[in-house]
Amino acid sequence: MAQDIVAFINFKGGTTKTTSAVFTAHVLHELGRRVLYVDSDPQGSALSWNEDAPQPFPFTVIGLPTKALHNELRDFAAGYDAVVIDTPPLEQKSGVVVSALRVATLAVVPVAPTPIEYKRLALAVETVNDVADLRADGQPPPLAVLLTRTIPNAISTSTYRDQITNDGLLVIGSTVGRLEIFSQADGDNITNATATAYGDAVAELQHRGLIK
Ligand SMILES: Nc1ncnc2c1ncn2[C@@H]1O[C@H](COP(=O)(O)OP(=O)(O)OP(=O)(O)O)[C@@H](O)[C@H]1O
Ligand SMILES: [Mg+2]
Repeated sequence: MAQDIVAFINFKGGTTKTTSAVFTAHVLHELGRRVLYVDSDPQGSALSWNEDAPQPFPFTVIGLPTKALHNELRDFAAGYDAVVIDTPPLEQKSGVVVSALRVATLAVVPVAPTPIEYKRLALAVETVNDVADLRADGQPPPLAVLLTRTIPNAISTSTYRDQITNDGLLVIGSTVGRLEIFSQADGDNITNATATAYGDAVAELQHRGLIK
């Protein structure tokens, strides 16, 4: 299998899983990795983003909205260094998400620094921990929380960073602001993703040894 299999997960819908997965895949591509993007959400948001964009994404994009993803990926991932898996909301399609987590080398949970998203973070963490028994290594995949839709200079960013860190979770230092470049990105091509907060997030994850 690929060196890196990064799954973007969250309990809720609309929490920037797809945006984060697409930007991260572009960063990894720009860094020279051979990237496979797996859209496991039956909504196919990333598939349609790729179709709508003026140019196809510069890496392979496939749809695998199935609970057998952990088995099927073995064939599809051959020849790729890094697989990015975009998942449906856990509350709707937990079987697909669990399947992705069975083979993930890293789970990234994008979370806005708000009470409602913080409360639901615990449910995503629980799912990641529970998947340990289904994995070859018997361990849950490493988990990193990515704060997204942050407001510049707002106290909420540091409040939730401290809270989540106190809960014993890794919070990525780089935060993704609530910005037009992200909210308007769907259907467009992305250039120089490495220069965005996602580039900093990937660099930190590499530094921590969580991404090659
Ligand atoms: N950093 C950001 N700032 C502002 N808006 C954002 C940001 N990132 C994503 N968005 C917007 O938030 C909405 C949800 O994002 P996205 O579709 O990536 O979430 P999702 O978790 O994949 O949703 P779903 O569960 O429906 O698949 C979209 O309208 C998107 O454009
Ligand atoms: Mg999505």
